[in-house]
Amino acid sequence: MPTPGQSQEREHEQQSWHADQTLVSGVRFRTGPGMIGRMRAVQVVELTGPSGVRVVEVAEPEPGPGEVLVEVHSVGVSFPDLLLSRGLYQLKPEPPFTLGVDVAGTVVEGPGSGFEPGARVAGVIPYGGAAERAVVPVSAVFPLPEHTSYDEGAALPMNYLTALFALHERGQVREGETVLVHGASGGVGTATLQVARGLGARTIAVVSTDEKAVVATSAGADDVVRLDGFKDAVRDLTGGRGVDVVLDVVGGDVFTDSLRCLAEQGRLLVVGFASGQGIPEVRVNRLLLNNIDVRGVGWGGFAMTRPSYMRAQWEALLPMIESGVIAPPIGATYDLDDFGRALQDMADRRMLGKAVVHVR
Ligand SMILES: NC(=O)c1ccc[n+]([C@@H]2O[C@H](COP(=O)([O-])OP(=O)(O)OC[C@H]3O[C@@H](n4cnc5c(N)ncnc54)[C@H](OP(=O)(O)O)[C@@H]3O)[C@@H](O)[C@H]2O)c1
Repeated sequence: MPTPGQSQEREHEQQSWHADQTLVSGVRFRTGPGMIGRMRAVQVVELTGPSGVRVVEVAEPEPGPGEVLVEVHSVGVSFPDLLLSRGLYQLKPEPPFTLGVDVAGTVVEGPGSGFEPGARVAGVIPYGGAAERAVVPVSAVFPLPEHTSYDEGAALPMNYLTALFALHERGQVREGETVLVHGASGGVGTATLQVARGLGARTIAVVSTDEKAVVATSAGADDVVRLDGFKDAVRDLTGGRGVDVVLDVVGGDVFTDSLRCLAEQGRLLVVGFASGQGIPEVRVNRLLLNNIDVRGVGWGGFAMTRPSYMRAQWEALLPMIESGVIAPPIGATYDLDDFGRALQDMADRRMLGKAVVHVR
């Protein structure tokens, strides 16, 4: 049974990624005579969270038109994996199903996709990537720069494209503005610190521990403050003015003080509810009195219904990747057999930067 907090979280997450389920549910498998390829995959066998995750043998998928078959080297560990394993995501595949959102590897085949076999790529799908081979729609496959590793490639797509969508498309962050980032040592948090810097903004990171402060600083935060008392710390750091943008992946208790941190015409970007503390509510007179906005950020629903959008976003990030402004911090790596343990670490709030699983 989901706890009340989990139910609320599900309600929120349902608004965060309205992916087209046919992207994965339409996958065909090589089952014809002489074509039976088997592979290892990380599957949810029961919706009990990380304990219901197993590595099993399944048939290899076969790409259809407009799809690319990728030999997966690394797969990211993502918050949606955790929600999917608990049956709390807006997509509700029936177990058994394969986890895995962000992948990096080499192209096996993708006729007409523009990708040659052997090309190094990253890709993003709603689920199904935590396996030796994965099928990805061509619109969600991105060429990996020469110096970007597979681990970095598997840390990039969802978090960095979300950060760019949040800051640029929804937050309209301008050069010289200040961005306060909650959950700043996590996957979306570190991505936001780096993309904000790439857009010429100053960042203030909010973290809960010393260890997480080190992660945020090395990810490029200009200032780091503690979750306890963050509002007063932000006031001091901004000379009482407040920040132009708050990016919130945490939800719950931080919400009201985040609104209080906003300067006039500031924007609070609602990205996620990792704390599981429930849906924050806003007294809208606060928005009127201070001329501030609360804006929702649902990257998946936006990007996956606009076929050229993700590739355009990737192009926008490439100069930041190549200049080193974007360099995803990989806090931990796991073997494929330990995907469930990685998810448990995420559930226990132990992630530092992005965790990546080695498939081969
Ligand atoms: N809207 C979108 O388009 C979109 C896209 C991608 C992800 N998301 C959502 O964004 C959220 C964050 O994802 P992520 O990949 O950054 O996760 P993550 O790497 O686990 O980071 C989450 C951060 O939240 C903080 N936190 C506070 N309470 C927590 C709790 N009870 N459990 C776990 N973390 C807690 C932690 O920082 P401290 O310990 O320092 O507080 C942690 O660093 C998720 O809800 C995810 O679904 C939304």
